[in-house]
Amino acid sequence: MGNSMEISQEIDLAIDLLAPTGSFKLEVEKDGLATLTFDTPGEKVNKYSTPVMKELEKLVDDLSKRNDIKALILVSKKPGIFIAGADVNELASASKDTDPEFLLRPQRVFTRLANLPFITVAAIDGACLGGGCETVLAMDYRLASDSKKVQIGLPEVKLGILPAWGGSTRLPRLVGLPTGLDLLLAGKVLDGKRALKAGLVDAVIPAPILYDQAKKLAREKLGTPKRANAGKGGGPARFRKARLVEGLLEGPLSFVVFGKAKKTVLKETKGRYPAPLACLQAVKEGWGKPIESGFAAEVRNVAPLVGTPEMKNLLGLFFRMEDVKKETGVPGHVKPREIHRIGVLGAGVMGGGIAQLAADKGFPVRMKDLKAEPLAGGYAAAAKIWLEKVKKRRMTKAEFAGKMSLLSGGFDYSGFSFAEVTIEAVVEKLAVKQAVLKEWEGVVPASAIFASNTSTLPIGEIAAGAAHPERVVGMHFFNPVHKMPLVEVITGPHTAPDVTATIFELAKKMGKTPVVVKDAPGFLVNRILGPYLAEAGRVLAEGNAMEAIDKALRDFGMPVGPIELLDDVGIDVATKGGETLSAAWPERMPLDAAFAKLAASGRLGRKTGKGFYLYQGDKRTGPDASVYSELGIPAPSGLKTSAAELEARLLLPMVNEAAFCLADGIVASAAKLDLAMIFGTGFPPFRGGLTAYADTLGIANVVSGLTRLEAQHGPRFRPAPLLVEMANAGKTFN
Ligand SMILES: NC(=O)c1ccc[n+]([C@@H]2O[C@H](COP(=O)([O-])OP(=O)(O)OC[C@H]3O[C@@H](n4cnc5c(N)ncnc54)[C@H](O)[C@@H]3O)[C@@H](O)[C@H]2O)c1
Repeated sequence: MGNSMEISQEIDLAIDLLAPTGSFKLEVEKDGLATLTFDTPGEKVNKYSTPVMKELEKLVDDLSKRNDIKALILVSKKPGIFIAGADVNELASASKDTDPEFLLRPQRVFTRLANLPFITVAAIDGACLGGGCETVLAMDYRLASDSKKVQIGLPEVKLGILPAWGGSTRLPRLVGLPTGLDLLLAGKVLDGKRALKAGLVDAVIPAPILYDQAKKLAREKLGTPKRANAGKGGGPARFRKARLVEGLLEGPLSFVVFGKAKKTVLKETKGRYPAPLACLQAVKEGWGKPIESGFAAEVRNVAPLVGTPEMKNLLGLFFRMEDVKKETGVPGHVKPREIHRIGVLGAGVMGGGIAQLAADKGFPVRMKDLKAEPLAGGYAAAAKIWLEKVKKRRMTKAEFAGKMSLLSGGFDYSGFSFAEVTIEAVVEKLAVKQAVLKEWEGVVPASAIFASNTSTLPIGEIAAGAAHPERVVGMHFFNPVHKMPLVEVITGPHTAPDVTATIFELAKKMGKTPVVVKDAPGFLVNRILGPYLAEAGRVLAEGNAMEAIDKALRDFGMPVGPIELLDDVGIDVATKGGETLSAAWPERMPLDAAFAKLAASGRLGRKTGKGFYLYQGDKRTGPDASVYSELGIPAPSGLKTSAAELEARLLLPMVNEAAFCLADGIVASAAKLDLAMIFGTGFPPFRGGLTAYADTLGIANVVSGLTRLEAQHGPRFRPAPLLVEMANAGKTFN
């Protein structure tokens, strides 16, 4: 083995020996208008691997020497994709020793693109992300199509790095400092309309005439001055001149903008994600200076991020999401069925939310409830979500009316025979669900699918009396439906593979990330959350203040603390879930009467304005001290147990339950389990998920921690045999 320098030279050499990728095709018309088409053969998307970037470098070099070209249009031939960005596989293998050319070459290529002696126009009809966006930022004009596939932006911070191919420098110069920081630091991507509003593109054009309009613009601009380097200090020129206040905020008062941005980042990330802060630093160091200073600042500030655990964990999450896109949810070649219409049984909290989401994605939806009130509530809840978008100008009034017209409802099954899938979200009672399934079977064709949104009842039991149990499956959404990204697809003992595949695909079409889980109490996410929430109740009863417990777990990285979560879920719902889990595993999940007692007194959580905390409308007003007297304990202040011990008490049982779930085959892999925990509970992505967190702790340490807790608090902490086995064999989850 040679040293890292030799290795990187070897890799470089190997890449040089590769045949050109043939990704670009140049056509020049008589009047000097050239069209450069990006279309990497054999790939679904255009992305920048090192060989592709080298090819572009050579091409741009050649272009700079040609005097027959008067203007250049860049287009993509991939449907729905302009340029997806850098090849993330290369990024995943990057480390501190990676050849600096990985950054310097693209910076150089895009600068040469910006310096071409003729004007350049990007015709963007699809995803234009990361390196793709950095490409168009170095061009003179950007036209976006009105296609829904158009997404423009620099999401690098979401992968734990910063845009260092010129994007951190060029974007704020083009759209202004406040907007630029807003986009960069949150890794926001915009559709054409929002990109236009932000000043990132020059126009939004109907997709079928985008190329023609790009040509028209290029011809109009032939021979006009370039804009790509016309801004102050180099870099793209802004579309309009900065107003007086903007001028001040971007000039002598820029420290105010940087200070505010830092505050926002710290509030959002609690300092857990280094990338946005590094990105902010890069912009700050290059701001107001020649563009080259910006590029150097990008390289300087990205270097410490490369190869960090945060970057690896975020990239891991990205790859897992990419896997889901390719999967069907079942092994082998199983084709999901086509779905055109959806039925929803029960228009309550969940049914209403599911109907809204399905209509939002373009499915006509028929709802059925027993009463008029929930039906009206379903319409109102859907309207509220869409009207919020209308208010933010993310949806037109006509689009709103169109979406509303996709919703219909009634008290009988009319219309349900046309729905290939019916999602059941009636009350959580086995007898009711079984009766509803029987009624439904009487009106639908044999090919229809029944997907239950139950949170606790076994799919096998719901399907017990069905004529066709093979078409009964679980489709477990989380509350609130329009926000929570996970759907557990639960396969019952008789569920047919193509039924699972159809629901898996439908979940994706509804914009969710599905994870297939086996039919067992609590399924996956709620089963793992069970011991965590129960233990939070116990540490509270031992004399720790609720807000201090919540803070400790938020400091760990959870989006909300466990007591807040109990209020959000509903103390009654949590109690019921606890009972189900306890019946299945009484030793590990013993029942605690405290929650039931609170629920019985009408203290149900956020929905009743009173749980552990008090609420006014949507706002939490503060902890309710009377909870302590109701539980018969003195009101505590702060933490009696240390934060580290709290983490051990609450998180190690989750890891333990994860091991039991894997041993029971509830979910296919540790990677899928982590995906489900991140998307179903908000387990901190920078930690890579629950099992990744356990690996970081060390499995032997997890086992010794659980053993110690078992000795102190009882058998609920007894380590899972799988964990003990792994610790003995020195194995990790991932
Ligand atoms: N609320 C949550 O956080 C949550 C999360 C995930 C899953 N779930 C599950 O979703 C399901 C619905 O829960 P929810 O919170 O929306 O309850 P909900 O009480 O708000 O709604 C249930 C609705 O079903 C209706 N209904 C009852 N019997 C019916 C019948 N025979 N035909 C048609 N409609 C009927 C009721 O009138 C009511 O409007 C339950 O199985 C629950 O376990 C709930």
